Amino acid sequence: MSSDGATTIKPLTSPLDGVAQVPGDKSLSHRAVLFAAMAEGTSHLEGVLDSEDVRSSIEAVRALGATVDMRTSDDGTLAGLVTGWGDRGPVQPDHPIDCGNSGTTARLLMGMLAPWPISVTLTGDESLCRRPMRRNTAPLMKMGVQFQPSEADHLPITETGNAHLKAITYDAPMASAQLKTAVLLAGVYADGKTVLNEPAPSRNHTELMLPLFGVPTTAGTRVASVTGPAHMKACDIHVPGDPSSAAFLCSAALLKRGSHITVEHVSLNPARIGFVRTLERMGADITERRTGAEGKEPCGTIEVSWTQALHGCEVPSQHFASIVDEVPVLALVAAHAKGLTVFRGIGELRVKESNRLQAIIDGLEKIGIDAWEESDNLFVEGNPSLVVDPGTVFDSRGDHRLAMTWALVGLCGNTPVEVEGFDCVSVSYPDFLSDIQSLAGQQ
Ligand code: S3P
Repeated sequence: MSSDGATTIKPLTSPLDGVAQVPGDKSLSHRAVLFAAMAEGTSHLEGVLDSEDVRSSIEAVRALGATVDMRTSDDGTLAGLVTGWGDRGPVQPDHPIDCGNSGTTARLLMGMLAPWPISVTLTGDESLCRRPMRRNTAPLMKMGVQFQPSEADHLPITETGNAHLKAITYDAPMASAQLKTAVLLAGVYADGKTVLNEPAPSRNHTELMLPLFGVPTTAGTRVASVTGPAHMKACDIHVPGDPSSAAFLCSAALLKRGSHITVEHVSLNPARIGFVRTLERMGADITERRTGAEGKEPCGTIEVSWTQALHGCEVPSQHFASIVDEVPVLALVAAHAKGLTVFRGIGELRVKESNRLQAIIDGLEKIGIDAWEESDNLFVEGNPSLVVDPGTVFDSRGDHRLAMTWALVGLCGNTPVEVEGFDCVSVSYPDFLSDIQSLAGQQ
Protein backbone atom coordinates (compact mmCIF):
# COMPACT_ATOMS: atom_id res chain seq x y z
CA MET A 1 0.00 0.00 0.00
CA SER A 2 1.50 3.32 -0.99
CA SER A 3 2.19 6.04 1.55
CA ASP A 4 -0.24 8.97 1.39
CA GLY A 5 1.92 11.49 3.23
CA ALA A 6 1.63 12.23 6.93
CA THR A 7 -1.58 12.74 8.90
CA THR A 8 -1.46 14.97 11.97
CA ILE A 9 -3.09 13.29 14.97
CA LYS A 10 -4.00 15.73 17.74
CA PRO A 11 -4.53 14.94 21.44
CA LEU A 12 -8.13 14.29 22.53
CA THR A 13 -9.47 17.19 24.56
CA SER A 14 -11.51 14.99 26.96
CA PRO A 15 -11.41 11.43 28.28
CA LEU A 16 -13.16 8.65 26.34
CA ASP A 17 -16.56 8.09 27.86
CA GLY A 18 -19.57 6.04 26.75
CA VAL A 19 -20.66 3.04 24.78
CA ALA A 20 -19.16 2.06 21.44
CA GLN A 21 -19.66 -0.58 18.80
CA VAL A 22 -16.82 -1.70 16.58
CA PRO A 23 -17.18 -2.84 12.96
CA GLY A 24 -17.66 -6.50 12.06
CA ASP A 25 -14.92 -8.98 12.85
CA LYS A 26 -12.44 -9.21 9.98
CA SER A 27 -11.64 -12.92 10.32
CA LEU A 28 -15.32 -13.86 10.52
CA SER A 29 -16.24 -11.52 7.64
CA HIS A 30 -13.68 -13.15 5.32
CA ARG A 31 -14.88 -16.61 6.30
CA ALA A 32 -18.57 -15.73 5.90
CA VAL A 33 -17.99 -14.42 2.37
CA LEU A 34 -15.58 -17.17 1.30
CA PHE A 35 -17.53 -20.10 2.74
CA ALA A 36 -20.81 -18.74 1.33
CA ALA A 37 -19.10 -18.62 -2.09
CA MET A 38 -18.18 -22.32 -1.75
CA ALA A 39 -21.70 -23.35 -0.74
CA GLU A 40 -24.71 -24.38 -2.81
CA GLY A 41 -27.51 -21.80 -2.64
CA THR A 42 -27.82 -18.27 -1.31
CA SER A 43 -26.46 -17.26 2.08
CA HIS A 44 -27.65 -14.18 3.91
CA LEU A 45 -24.82 -12.31 5.63
CA GLU A 46 -25.07 -9.41 8.07
CA GLY A 47 -22.61 -7.33 10.08
CA VAL A 48 -19.82 -7.96 7.55
CA LEU A 49 -16.86 -5.60 7.88
CA ASP A 50 -16.70 -3.05 5.06
CA SER A 51 -12.95 -2.71 4.66
CA GLU A 52 -10.37 -3.08 1.91
CA ASP A 53 -9.32 -6.55 3.09
CA VAL A 54 -12.85 -7.94 3.04
CA ARG A 55 -13.47 -6.29 -0.32
CA SER A 56 -10.47 -8.26 -1.62
CA SER A 57 -12.29 -11.46 -0.64
CA ILE A 58 -15.54 -10.26 -2.20
CA GLU A 59 -13.85 -9.38 -5.50
CA ALA A 60 -11.98 -12.70 -5.50
CA VAL A 61 -15.11 -14.83 -5.18
CA ARG A 62 -16.89 -12.71 -7.81
CA ALA A 63 -14.03 -13.44 -10.23
CA LEU A 64 -14.47 -17.13 -9.42
CA GLY A 65 -18.18 -17.16 -10.25
CA ALA A 66 -20.02 -16.41 -6.99
CA THR A 67 -22.71 -13.72 -6.98
CA VAL A 68 -22.34 -11.12 -4.24
CA ASP A 69 -25.13 -8.64 -3.66
CA MET A 70 -24.19 -6.76 -0.51
CA ARG A 71 -24.98 -3.18 0.51
CA THR A 72 -23.89 -0.85 3.27
CA SER A 73 -26.34 -0.90 6.20
CA ASP A 74 -27.18 1.98 8.54
CA ASP A 75 -24.51 0.83 11.00
CA GLY A 76 -21.83 0.94 8.26
CA THR A 77 -21.45 -2.83 7.96
CA LEU A 78 -22.21 -4.81 4.79
CA ALA A 79 -25.31 -6.97 4.55
CA GLY A 80 -26.82 -8.99 1.73
CA LEU A 81 -26.68 -12.17 -0.27
CA VAL A 82 -23.93 -14.44 -1.57
CA THR A 83 -24.80 -17.21 -4.02
CA GLY A 84 -22.08 -19.79 -4.17
CA TRP A 85 -20.75 -22.29 -6.73
CA GLY A 86 -21.55 -25.39 -4.70
CA ASP A 87 -20.60 -28.71 -6.28
CA ARG A 88 -20.20 -27.08 -9.72
CA GLY A 89 -17.02 -25.44 -8.46
CA PRO A 90 -15.56 -22.05 -9.32
CA VAL A 91 -15.12 -20.85 -12.91
CA GLN A 92 -11.71 -20.35 -14.50
CA PRO A 93 -11.02 -16.61 -14.04
CA ASP A 94 -9.55 -14.77 -17.03
CA HIS A 95 -7.09 -12.73 -14.96
CA PRO A 96 -4.91 -13.14 -11.86
CA ILE A 97 -6.74 -12.65 -8.56
CA ASP A 98 -5.41 -9.64 -6.69
CA CYS A 99 -5.69 -10.24 -2.94
CA GLY A 100 -4.50 -6.69 -2.17
CA ASN A 101 -3.04 -6.49 1.34
CA SER A 102 -5.02 -9.46 2.62
CA GLY A 103 -3.11 -12.55 3.77
CA THR A 104 -6.38 -14.15 4.85
CA THR A 105 -7.84 -13.83 1.33
CA ALA A 106 -4.76 -15.33 -0.32
CA ARG A 107 -4.15 -18.17 2.11
CA LEU A 108 -7.80 -19.21 2.45
CA LEU A 109 -8.29 -19.11 -1.33
CA MET A 110 -5.45 -21.61 -1.69
CA GLY A 111 -7.52 -24.14 0.26
CA MET A 112 -10.76 -23.26 -1.54
CA LEU A 113 -9.21 -23.71 -4.99
CA ALA A 114 -7.50 -27.01 -4.11
CA PRO A 115 -10.26 -29.41 -5.27
CA TRP A 116 -11.04 -27.81 -8.63
CA PRO A 117 -9.32 -28.50 -11.98
CA ILE A 118 -8.64 -24.85 -12.86
CA SER A 119 -5.41 -22.83 -12.79
CA VAL A 120 -5.56 -19.59 -10.86
CA THR A 121 -2.80 -17.04 -10.32
CA LEU A 122 -2.92 -15.34 -6.92
CA THR A 123 -1.14 -12.07 -6.36
CA GLY A 124 -1.27 -9.08 -4.02
CA ASP A 125 0.27 -5.77 -3.11
CA GLU A 126 3.95 -5.30 -2.33
CA SER A 127 3.50 -6.23 1.35
CA LEU A 128 1.51 -9.40 0.62
CA CYS A 129 4.00 -10.48 -2.06
CA ARG A 130 6.72 -10.42 0.64
CA ARG A 131 4.83 -12.71 3.04
CA PRO A 132 5.61 -16.44 3.33
CA MET A 133 3.31 -18.84 1.48
CA ARG A 134 5.25 -22.09 1.64
CA ARG A 135 3.56 -22.89 4.96
CA ASN A 136 0.31 -23.19 2.96
CA THR A 137 1.55 -24.71 -0.27
CA ALA A 138 3.48 -27.50 1.51
CA PRO A 139 0.47 -29.31 3.03
CA LEU A 140 -1.72 -28.62 -0.01
CA MET A 141 0.92 -30.23 -2.27
CA LYS A 142 0.80 -33.30 -0.01
CA MET A 143 -2.94 -33.43 -0.75
CA GLY A 144 -2.28 -33.36 -4.51
CA VAL A 145 -2.41 -29.67 -5.45
CA GLN A 146 0.18 -28.21 -7.85
CA PHE A 147 1.80 -24.80 -7.47
CA GLN A 148 3.87 -22.99 -10.05
CA PRO A 149 6.68 -22.27 -9.24
CA SER A 150 6.48 -25.29 -6.92
CA GLU A 151 9.17 -24.11 -4.52
CA ALA A 152 7.85 -20.51 -4.36
CA ASP A 153 7.43 -18.97 -0.93
CA HIS A 154 5.83 -15.79 -2.27
CA LEU A 155 3.02 -14.55 -4.46
CA PRO A 156 2.43 -14.38 -7.36
CA ILE A 157 1.84 -18.08 -7.51
CA THR A 158 -0.32 -20.20 -9.84
CA GLU A 159 -2.37 -22.98 -8.30
CA THR A 160 -3.81 -25.94 -10.20
CA GLY A 161 -6.31 -27.96 -8.19
CA ASN A 162 -6.93 -31.70 -8.15
CA ALA A 163 -10.34 -33.36 -8.24
CA HIS A 164 -8.95 -36.36 -6.33
CA LEU A 165 -7.46 -34.77 -3.24
CA LYS A 166 -5.95 -37.00 -0.56
CA ALA A 167 -7.13 -36.50 3.02
CA ILE A 168 -4.09 -35.96 5.28
CA THR A 169 -3.11 -35.59 8.90
CA TYR A 170 -0.80 -32.60 9.13
CA ASP A 171 1.30 -31.33 12.02
CA ALA A 172 1.50 -27.60 11.44
CA PRO A 173 4.90 -26.07 12.25
CA MET A 174 3.26 -22.92 13.67
CA ALA A 175 -0.08 -21.91 15.19
CA SER A 176 -1.67 -20.21 12.19
CA ALA A 177 -5.41 -20.07 11.61
CA GLN A 178 -4.83 -19.19 7.96
CA LEU A 179 -2.78 -22.34 7.41
CA LYS A 180 -5.22 -24.47 9.41
CA THR A 181 -8.17 -23.09 7.45
CA ALA A 182 -6.56 -23.69 4.06
CA VAL A 183 -5.95 -27.37 4.89
CA LEU A 184 -9.46 -27.84 6.31
CA LEU A 185 -11.09 -26.16 3.28
CA ALA A 186 -9.20 -28.47 0.93
CA GLY A 187 -10.26 -31.34 3.19
CA VAL A 188 -13.94 -30.52 2.61
CA TYR A 189 -13.62 -32.17 -0.82
CA ALA A 190 -10.95 -34.81 -0.01
CA ASP A 191 -12.04 -38.39 0.51
CA GLY A 192 -11.93 -39.12 4.26
CA LYS A 193 -10.84 -37.26 7.37
CA THR A 194 -8.36 -34.38 7.11
CA VAL A 195 -6.77 -33.56 10.47
CA LEU A 196 -4.72 -30.52 11.41
CA ASN A 197 -2.64 -30.56 14.61
CA GLU A 198 -1.11 -27.29 15.78
CA PRO A 199 1.54 -26.44 18.38
CA ALA A 200 -0.71 -23.90 20.17
CA PRO A 201 -4.40 -23.06 19.70
CA SER A 202 -4.95 -20.54 16.90
CA ARG A 203 -8.31 -18.81 16.36
CA ASN A 204 -10.99 -21.44 15.75
CA HIS A 205 -13.54 -19.50 13.66
CA THR A 206 -13.30 -21.96 10.78
CA GLU A 207 -14.13 -24.96 12.94
CA LEU A 208 -17.04 -23.06 14.49
CA MET A 209 -18.45 -21.82 11.16
CA LEU A 210 -18.01 -24.80 8.81
CA PRO A 211 -20.68 -26.92 10.58
CA LEU A 212 -23.21 -24.13 9.89
CA PHE A 213 -22.54 -24.79 6.19
CA GLY A 214 -23.14 -28.51 6.73
CA VAL A 215 -19.51 -29.71 6.89
CA PRO A 216 -18.79 -32.51 9.41
CA THR A 217 -16.13 -30.85 11.55
CA THR A 218 -14.43 -31.47 14.89
CA ALA A 219 -12.76 -28.78 16.98
CA GLY A 220 -10.33 -29.56 19.78
CA THR A 221 -7.80 -27.45 21.64
CA ARG A 222 -4.88 -28.04 19.30
CA VAL A 223 -6.58 -30.17 16.68
CA ALA A 224 -9.33 -29.74 14.12
CA SER A 225 -10.70 -32.01 11.41
CA VAL A 226 -13.20 -32.18 8.58
CA THR A 227 -14.61 -35.26 6.89
CA GLY A 228 -15.09 -35.09 3.15
CA PRO A 229 -16.38 -35.07 0.62
CA ALA A 230 -19.01 -32.75 2.06
CA HIS A 231 -21.64 -30.68 0.28
CA MET A 232 -21.62 -27.15 1.60
CA LYS A 233 -25.09 -25.61 1.89
CA ALA A 234 -25.93 -21.92 2.20
CA CYS A 235 -26.74 -20.52 5.64
CA ASP A 236 -27.28 -17.21 7.44
CA ILE A 237 -24.43 -15.57 9.32
CA HIS A 238 -24.41 -12.49 11.53
CA VAL A 239 -20.87 -11.24 12.19
CA PRO A 240 -20.27 -9.70 15.66
CA GLY A 241 -17.86 -6.81 16.33
CA ASP A 242 -14.11 -7.25 15.94
CA PRO A 243 -12.18 -7.71 19.21
CA SER A 244 -8.97 -6.67 17.42
CA SER A 245 -10.56 -3.28 16.69
CA ALA A 246 -11.99 -3.15 20.23
CA ALA A 247 -8.42 -3.60 21.52
CA PHE A 248 -7.54 -0.14 20.15
CA LEU A 249 -10.50 1.53 21.87
CA CYS A 250 -9.73 -0.27 25.15
CA SER A 251 -6.05 0.68 24.95
CA ALA A 252 -7.00 4.30 24.24
CA ALA A 253 -9.19 4.28 27.37
CA LEU A 254 -6.24 2.97 29.40
CA LEU A 255 -3.91 5.63 28.05
CA LYS A 256 -6.24 8.63 28.33
CA ARG A 257 -6.65 9.71 31.97
CA GLY A 258 -10.21 9.54 33.32
CA SER A 259 -11.66 7.38 30.52
CA HIS A 260 -14.37 4.77 30.96
CA ILE A 261 -15.88 2.92 28.00
CA THR A 262 -17.96 -0.12 27.14
CA VAL A 263 -17.63 -1.86 23.78
CA GLU A 264 -20.83 -3.69 22.88
CA HIS A 265 -21.66 -6.70 20.74
CA VAL A 266 -18.10 -7.81 20.22
CA SER A 267 -16.83 -11.36 19.69
CA LEU A 268 -15.61 -12.80 22.99
CA ASN A 269 -14.06 -15.87 21.41
CA PRO A 270 -11.30 -16.80 23.93
CA ALA A 271 -8.83 -17.25 21.06
CA ARG A 272 -9.32 -13.56 20.24
CA ILE A 273 -9.46 -11.78 23.58
CA GLY A 274 -5.96 -12.57 24.78
CA PHE A 275 -5.50 -8.79 24.92
CA VAL A 276 -8.02 -8.60 27.78
CA ARG A 277 -6.01 -11.24 29.68
CA THR A 278 -2.74 -9.38 28.98
CA LEU A 279 -4.15 -6.02 30.09
CA GLU A 280 -5.46 -7.69 33.28
CA ARG A 281 -1.93 -8.92 33.94
CA MET A 282 -0.77 -5.32 33.66
CA GLY A 283 -3.26 -4.39 36.38
CA ALA A 284 -5.87 -2.81 34.07
CA ASP A 285 -9.48 -2.42 35.17
CA ILE A 286 -11.03 -4.38 32.29
CA THR A 287 -13.78 -7.02 32.23
CA GLU A 288 -15.75 -8.86 29.61
CA ARG A 289 -19.36 -9.98 29.99
CA ARG A 290 -20.99 -12.53 27.76
CA THR A 291 -24.46 -11.58 26.58
CA GLY A 292 -25.10 -14.18 23.88
CA ALA A 293 -23.71 -15.77 20.75
CA GLU A 294 -23.73 -15.33 16.98
CA GLY A 295 -23.82 -18.85 15.56
CA LYS A 296 -21.25 -20.63 17.71
CA GLU A 297 -19.25 -17.47 18.45
CA PRO A 298 -19.65 -16.13 22.00
CA CYS A 299 -20.17 -12.38 22.12
CA GLY A 300 -20.84 -9.64 24.64
CA THR A 301 -19.36 -6.46 26.09
CA ILE A 302 -15.90 -5.34 27.20
CA GLU A 303 -15.76 -2.59 29.79
CA VAL A 304 -12.56 -0.74 30.66
CA SER A 305 -11.60 2.20 32.87
CA TRP A 306 -8.44 4.28 32.87
CA THR A 307 -6.09 2.76 35.41
CA GLN A 308 -3.37 4.75 37.14
CA ALA A 309 -1.01 2.00 38.20
CA LEU A 310 -0.36 -0.22 35.17
CA HIS A 311 2.67 -2.44 35.61
CA GLY A 312 4.79 -4.59 33.32
CA CYS A 313 4.11 -8.30 32.97
CA GLU A 314 5.33 -11.50 31.40
CA VAL A 315 3.31 -12.76 28.40
CA PRO A 316 4.13 -16.44 27.80
CA SER A 317 4.59 -17.77 24.28
CA GLN A 318 1.46 -19.99 24.53
CA HIS A 319 -0.58 -16.75 24.67
CA PHE A 320 0.90 -15.36 21.48
CA ALA A 321 -1.72 -16.79 19.08
CA SER A 322 -4.48 -15.09 21.08
CA ILE A 323 -2.80 -11.65 20.78
CA VAL A 324 -1.16 -12.09 17.38
CA ASP A 325 -2.67 -8.89 15.94
CA GLU A 326 -2.66 -6.93 19.20
CA VAL A 327 1.03 -6.99 20.13
CA PRO A 328 1.79 -3.52 18.66
CA VAL A 329 -0.91 -1.78 20.70
CA LEU A 330 -0.19 -3.89 23.80
CA ALA A 331 3.48 -2.92 23.50
CA LEU A 332 2.39 0.73 23.48
CA VAL A 333 0.37 0.19 26.68
CA ALA A 334 3.42 -1.62 28.16
CA ALA A 335 5.49 1.45 27.28
CA HIS A 336 3.25 3.47 29.65
CA ALA A 337 3.36 0.86 32.45
CA LYS A 338 5.82 0.68 35.33
CA GLY A 339 8.61 -1.84 34.79
CA LEU A 340 9.46 -4.45 32.20
CA THR A 341 7.01 -6.32 29.96
CA VAL A 342 8.20 -9.39 28.07
CA PHE A 343 6.26 -10.83 25.11
CA ARG A 344 7.67 -14.31 24.55
CA GLY A 345 7.78 -16.30 21.31
CA ILE A 346 6.60 -13.57 18.95
CA GLY A 347 9.03 -14.07 16.03
CA GLU A 348 6.05 -14.53 13.70
CA LEU A 349 5.48 -10.76 13.89
CA ARG A 350 8.38 -10.35 11.46
CA VAL A 351 6.22 -11.71 8.62
CA LYS A 352 2.98 -9.82 9.16
CA GLU A 353 1.82 -6.92 6.95
CA SER A 354 5.23 -5.44 7.87
CA ASN A 355 8.06 -6.56 10.14
CA ARG A 356 6.03 -5.57 13.19
CA LEU A 357 8.68 -6.63 15.67
CA GLN A 358 11.22 -4.18 14.27
CA ALA A 359 8.55 -1.53 13.72
CA ILE A 360 7.48 -1.68 17.40
CA ILE A 361 11.07 -1.30 18.57
CA ASP A 362 11.73 1.61 16.17
CA GLY A 363 8.46 3.37 17.03
CA LEU A 364 8.92 3.05 20.79
CA GLU A 365 12.44 4.43 20.45
CA LYS A 366 10.91 7.62 19.02
CA ILE A 367 9.07 8.16 22.30
CA GLY A 368 12.15 7.44 24.39
CA ILE A 369 11.21 3.88 25.36
CA ASP A 370 13.84 1.20 25.51
CA ALA A 371 12.54 -1.88 23.69
CA TRP A 372 14.57 -4.73 22.22
CA GLU A 373 14.31 -8.26 20.87
CA GLU A 374 16.23 -11.27 22.01
CA SER A 375 15.62 -14.71 20.46
CA ASP A 376 11.99 -14.14 19.43
CA ASN A 377 11.11 -12.31 22.66
CA LEU A 378 10.21 -8.62 22.84
CA PHE A 379 11.22 -6.60 25.91
CA VAL A 380 9.62 -3.22 26.69
CA GLU A 381 10.91 -1.11 29.57
CA GLY A 382 7.90 1.04 30.49
CA ASN A 383 7.85 4.62 31.75
CA PRO A 384 4.53 5.83 33.24
CA SER A 385 5.64 9.48 33.01
CA LEU A 386 6.82 9.41 29.41
CA VAL A 387 6.54 12.68 27.51
CA VAL A 388 6.44 12.74 23.70
CA ASP A 389 8.46 15.32 21.76
CA PRO A 390 6.34 17.70 19.65
CA GLY A 391 6.51 16.88 15.94
CA THR A 392 7.34 13.19 16.38
CA VAL A 393 6.80 11.38 13.07
CA PHE A 394 5.86 7.69 12.86
CA ASP A 395 5.93 5.55 9.74
CA SER A 396 2.93 3.21 9.43
CA ARG A 397 4.96 1.08 6.95
CA GLY A 398 1.60 0.61 5.17
CA ASP A 399 0.49 -1.56 8.11
CA HIS A 400 -2.96 -0.79 9.53
CA ARG A 401 -2.23 -2.04 13.06
CA LEU A 402 0.89 0.11 13.28
CA ALA A 403 -0.95 3.17 11.92
CA MET A 404 -3.59 2.84 14.67
CA THR A 405 -1.00 2.14 17.38
CA TRP A 406 1.05 5.25 16.61
CA ALA A 407 -2.12 7.33 16.24
CA LEU A 408 -2.89 6.50 19.89
CA VAL A 409 0.38 8.22 20.88
CA GLY A 410 -1.04 11.46 19.48
CA LEU A 411 -4.65 10.94 20.57
CA CYS A 412 -3.87 10.02 24.19
CA GLY A 413 -0.62 11.90 24.70
CA ASN A 414 0.67 15.40 25.39
CA THR A 415 1.35 16.63 21.84
CA PRO A 416 0.24 16.08 18.23
CA VAL A 417 2.18 13.47 16.25
CA GLU A 418 2.45 12.73 12.53
CA VAL A 419 1.62 9.27 11.17
CA GLU A 420 2.86 8.59 7.64
CA GLY A 421 0.56 6.42 5.52
CA PHE A 422 -2.24 6.62 8.10
CA ASP A 423 -4.91 5.86 5.45
CA CYS A 424 -4.00 2.16 5.51
CA VAL A 425 -6.35 1.87 8.53
CA SER A 426 -8.98 1.28 5.81
CA VAL A 427 -7.71 -2.34 5.65
CA SER A 428 -9.45 -3.22 8.92
CA TYR A 429 -11.01 -0.19 10.66
CA PRO A 430 -11.83 2.69 8.28
CA ASP A 431 -13.66 4.75 10.98
CA PHE A 432 -11.03 4.23 13.68
CA LEU A 433 -10.24 7.95 14.15
CA SER A 434 -13.82 9.21 14.17
CA ASP A 435 -14.95 6.39 16.52
CA ILE A 436 -12.30 7.37 19.09
CA GLN A 437 -12.96 11.08 18.66
CA SER A 438 -16.68 10.63 19.16
CA LEU A 439 -16.08 8.66 22.38
CA ALA A 440 -14.23 11.76 23.54
CA GLY A 441 -17.21 13.95 22.53
CA GLN A 442 -15.31 15.52 19.65
CA GLN A 443 -17.64 15.34 16.64
C1 S3P B 1 -6.11 -14.60 10.71
C2 S3P B 1 -5.11 -15.31 11.31
C3 S3P B 1 -3.89 -14.69 11.85
C4 S3P B 1 -4.07 -13.18 12.01
C5 S3P B 1 -4.70 -12.55 10.81
C6 S3P B 1 -6.07 -13.14 10.56
C7 S3P B 1 -7.29 -15.33 10.19
O1 S3P B 1 -2.82 -14.92 10.95
O2 S3P B 1 -2.82 -12.59 12.29
O3 S3P B 1 -4.83 -11.15 11.00
O4 S3P B 1 -8.32 -14.70 9.92
O5 S3P B 1 -7.21 -16.56 10.08
P1 S3P B 1 -1.93 -16.26 11.00
O6 S3P B 1 -2.77 -17.38 10.55
O7 S3P B 1 -0.80 -15.98 10.05
O8 S3P B 1 -1.47 -16.39 12.42
